[in-house]
Amino acid sequence: MSYQLQSNTFSGLFVGQKIITLPSVDSTNDFMKEQLSNSTPFPEGTVIMAERQTAGRGQPGNKWYADPGANLTFSIYLEPRFLKPSEQFWLNIGICSGLCAALQKTVSESIIIKWPNDILFDRNKISGILIENVLQGDKLKHSVVGIGLNVNQTTFAEDLGRVTSIKQILHQTYSKEKLLYEICHSIGRAYDQLRTGSWKELKKFYLENLFAANQSQDFWLKGKKVSGTIRGVDTSGQLLVEFNGQVEGFGFKEVAFIL
Ligand code: BTN
Repeated sequence: MSYQLQSNTFSGLFVGQKIITLPSVDSTNDFMKEQLSNSTPFPEGTVIMAERQTAGRGQPGNKWYADPGANLTFSIYLEPRFLKPSEQFWLNIGICSGLCAALQKTVSESIIIKWPNDILFDRNKISGILIENVLQGDKLKHSVVGIGLNVNQTTFAEDLGRVTSIKQILHQTYSKEKLLYEICHSIGRAYDQLRTGSWKELKKFYLENLFAANQSQDFWLKGKKVSGTIRGVDTSGQLLVEFNGQVEGFGFKEVAFIL
């Protein structure tokens, strides 16, 4: 496959110090991983974005759809070697917090995080994150952080469920470049907090902006509809839910929110 690469930069930023724009690619995560496995070196903080993805991937088993040119679909290259494999969820906390903070600043204070790594506005999904880590020994060697954000798309397939875009929220077209700058800036800041050990602050932000925290929420659990109260997340990434006074931890796909 031949790619027409357009390389750019957000000067002064760590995340976004190099930006490669592809007109069309299968998936920016897959493209970045292929380049890495061919030993193409990237500076940490490199962003690869695509105007169009032909096989965008969501969380395992899901696809990610975006109208060509309308939305942001990109991947960030990071080397979080300061994290152990058992600490992977901290990267998720940092990325979610950085993305959420950028969207609160630019779009709406009502943007929140839905465990483990969706971003919502008014119970509608506006952004999804797919982090793929490569481990080496007892460290994270590198991570490909894929982000899909609905910016200027206004119609969505019905089977996608509750989704929205920035244009649907603000009723105006939004600059993808300005948004990418704010996101890179904010994720860079969160990543720096991770690197320097300010994990408590990041977790505080994540929990303060977590959808349905400390509220009664309906879930599908083992094929049954149940009501519980979200009490937080543990460091392995499990969602902590209280049922009848007992707190239990659940992994991704073990519980599904009923929105
Ligand atoms: C999800 O919510 O299921 C995660 C969606 C992640 C989508 C982004 S778009 C850019 C990057 N490339 C991909 O193929 N997926 C991620």
